[in-house]
Amino acid sequence: MSSRIVLLIGLILTLALAALGVSLPPDGVERIALAQFLGRFHVMAVHLPIGLLLAVAVMDLVGASPRHRVLREAAGFVLGFATLSAVGSALLGWLLAFAGGYSGKLVSQHMWGGFILCAVSVLALAVRRSFVAPERRGLGYAYPPLLLLAIVTMLWTAHQGGKLVHGETFLTQHSPFRTPSPGKVSSPGKKGAVNSTPAANAAATEASFYAVRVAPALDRTCVGCHNANKHKAGLRLDTYALLMQGGENGPVVKAGDPAGSELYHRITLPPEDEDFMPSDGKKPLAPEEVKWIELWIAAGASATAPLSQFTTAPAPHNDTPAILAPDYQPYLAKIAAFEKQSGGRLVPRSRHPTDGLILRTASAPSQCTDAVLAQLGPVAGLIVEAELARTKITDTGLRALAACKNLRVLDLSNTKVTAAGLASLAGLEKLERLNLTDTGIDSAAIARLHLKAAPQIYPMPSAEGPEAN
Ligand code: HEC
Repeated sequence: MSSRIVLLIGLILTLALAALGVSLPPDGVERIALAQFLGRFHVMAVHLPIGLLLAVAVMDLVGASPRHRVLREAAGFVLGFATLSAVGSALLGWLLAFAGGYSGKLVSQHMWGGFILCAVSVLALAVRRSFVAPERRGLGYAYPPLLLLAIVTMLWTAHQGGKLVHGETFLTQHSPFRTPSPGKVSSPGKKGAVNSTPAANAAATEASFYAVRVAPALDRTCVGCHNANKHKAGLRLDTYALLMQGGENGPVVKAGDPAGSELYHRITLPPEDEDFMPSDGKKPLAPEEVKWIELWIAAGASATAPLSQFTTAPAPHNDTPAILAPDYQPYLAKIAAFEKQSGGRLVPRSRHPTDGLILRTASAPSQCTDAVLAQLGPVAGLIVEAELARTKITDTGLRALAACKNLRVLDLSNTKVTAAGLASLAGLEKLERLNLTDTGIDSAAIARLHLKAAPQIYPMPSAEGPEAN
């Protein structure tokens, strides 16, 4: 019987998946490029079982009325399809997790949620095939609860997956039931575990070199790939203990011996070396940061050795971390109000509250008008980057931007602003980059622009000077 075969395949595959999950769990190590290639289709494939399972529920419910009986009859077929697609997506998901360098609690929860969903779907299918049609008998009464369980499991699993892709607070960030806050990024601690390690707590009384110099450097450059949810090479660099524990090939720091430490080796290779860290062309550590790490390992890689002990360490570029804009946290209500009005977003640039905000309008550029910019009010000074491409702003809006004293990057591409309007920006002393692509401002006018801050302007005026027309 074909339905038996479907069931049998489903059952065998589900058991095989569970066996894979137990014996080869996602451990943060990247493997086999082909497996990663295939695995990435998981992200696309998962939507199939989600849609199909919900369709089964709707077909069963609507099909309960005799007029729509045909739907109920077809629901069994759709459930079979949903189950197979769930098993297929789970397999791809396991492939992605195992080969793609994923690990951590969230991935495990998502993976096991997927496997349980497969098992429950197979069970629901079995019960439905054997007992439900054409009339309910025996175990048929188990079908509705099983289908409900499958849907609940599916929603939970999908939510864990969403958190994995978009971050923990993706769904709740703009919830009306939550106190407004632009992202969770503002609270260091969870990931930047400097303050959560016992070692760092001890250091809080007497600043340790590790906590003040080494950890923040690793935090900025390395923790993105070596953390709880993504520990590439099995290595986590977000706490002192885990850093000292090392990765899949053992410790990466050999106290007293920088040259013999894998971590130091990796950051001192030529940047084009394929073993260089950070990998993938990410912004490397600053030279003084590399030096701190060297000195720190040479002095014994201690969590508590005080800052004052490292007399030869180069000073940080700016002794206090650069403050790009005032702390935005007191302005959360104003930020939320502006976002609501403008349809734009004010996103923190980093988890340091003094790194300023990015004004994003890309999701609804046409809503962003001169009038909206005029509403910026006290928030203006917090904005460090403004992405205004394709918005409706004109020279009038540029006058409002003059209040954004901390603006460093401004994208005006594809807007109606003119060279005359840019005069309003003359007072922006910190402006570093200005994008004027596809505005009415031609290359000749750009060459004539003289803004006080002399920002990098795109498109660059051609080297031969003003364009011959
Ligand atoms: C873009 C992601 C990414 C970033 C950022 C990154 N790493 Fe890695 N790291 C990897 C990957 C992938 C591997 C495994 C492949 C390899 O060994 O080259 C790895 C491996 C390592 C290893 C080898 C571990 C072992 O046991 O073999 C060390 C040490 C390391 N990284 C240190 C760092 C340091 C220090 C930084 C920051 C300066 C950093 N990584 C930033 C992705 C990254």
